[in-house]
Amino acid sequence: MSTVHPIAIIGTGIAGLSAAQALHNAGHSVQLFDKSRGSGGRMSSKRSDAGALDLGAQYFTARDRRFVEVVQQWQARGWVAEWTPSLYNSRNGQLSASPDEQVRWVGAPRMSAITRALLGALPVHFSCRITEVFRGEQHWHLLDAEGNSHGPFSHVIVATPAPQATALLSSAPKLASAAAGVAMDPTWAVALAFNTPLETPMEGCFVQDSPLDWLARNRSKPGRDTAMDTWVLHASSNWSKQHLDLDKEAVIEQLHGAFAEMIGCAVPAPALSLAHRWLYARPATAHQWGALADADLGLYACGDWCLSGRVEGAWLSGQEAAKRLLEHLQ
Ligand code: FAD
Ligand code: NAI
Repeated sequence: MSTVHPIAIIGTGIAGLSAAQALHNAGHSVQLFDKSRGSGGRMSSKRSDAGALDLGAQYFTARDRRFVEVVQQWQARGWVAEWTPSLYNSRNGQLSASPDEQVRWVGAPRMSAITRALLGALPVHFSCRITEVFRGEQHWHLLDAEGNSHGPFSHVIVATPAPQATALLSSAPKLASAAAGVAMDPTWAVALAFNTPLETPMEGCFVQDSPLDWLARNRSKPGRDTAMDTWVLHASSNWSKQHLDLDKEAVIEQLHGAFAEMIGCAVPAPALSLAHRWLYARPATAHQWGALADADLGLYACGDWCLSGRVEGAWLSGQEAAKRLLEHLQ
């Protein structure tokens, strides 16, 4: 049975798009909303003079059978490719090669390629921040930050990070209070681009005991053809929390310093540098909810915070929200 009115989905990250695809494939019409100018959320990439840079999710693993299968389909369509970085580990300032057998995937030619492809031609309103989700006599309506109202909708799926979902779920107090209980930690990300390649074989590095917790040579990922040697540095949650309001120039200076100290080769001044603060980067605690639902009302929530705080968890959570909605329609 198809719904008379479309289903509204707030958030075009991987969770929202996973739900959108499942509902669209089941014959329902969906309408998506995102406050950003494009899709992807924490899987988006930033265009720069040094090519596109993956500032959020760096790569993803697939462990659940359903996700493994879908990633294989994405690979066949050319949306993702395997990334086989030369991996290192840094602990107490000691750098060591740390190869492993884990399969790691990236969007090709940039991380945002996946959500762009999933969005396809589905109807979407970008630069549209939803501030209120309310139910009229029979249907749902949304209000955006500019005072425009959208609707009617048969159901609403909120697919934003938990702190942004809380207010949008106020019609279902149980869902709102579950979301309110999920704290999310920030991550400062810095990208550096060098005219001359750094003299290191390193392409990725897990870091402990430093302001940093991860480094990636962006250029080593498949399809990132750029003349410059591009790197993405992520600060640890602790450092990011302690330096939440530091200005971007100071963040770049400090993380560039930590990078130069640990990488074991000369690091010149970068030709390009930028910083991005992810306020809600990862859930502070893990949950195994799948998705949240008030099926009688027709209000659902999904996102990485409902499962593992990873790309795979976000995709599975979107599938779960769609599944529960479809089950209730039968
Ligand atoms: P999001 O991607 O956050 O999507 C939510 C969307 O909702 C956004 O587009 C946002 O603009 C929109 N939105 C929010 N509020 C509103 C509103 N009021 N109205 C309209 N739109 C709204 N995962 C991995 O598996 N591997 C990694 O290596 C990895 N590294 C990471 C590194 C960083 C720095 C960060 C930040 C995340 C990383 N992750 C990684 C986690 C991964 O990116 C997330 O788990 C996943 O992308 C979350 O998807 P989502 O759809 O749940 O949320
Ligand atoms: P994974 O299996 O590659 O990594 C999981 C963890 O195992 C790593 O964090 C690291 O501590 C360790 N590890 C894996 N391979 C290693 C190696 N060769 N040498 C040394 N240590 C190794 O990927 P998975 O499970 O998919 O995790 C995703 C990654 O995304 C994690 O690293 C996680 O920290 C990161 N992430 C970062 C966020 C942020 O805000 N910075 C948010 C969400 C995830």
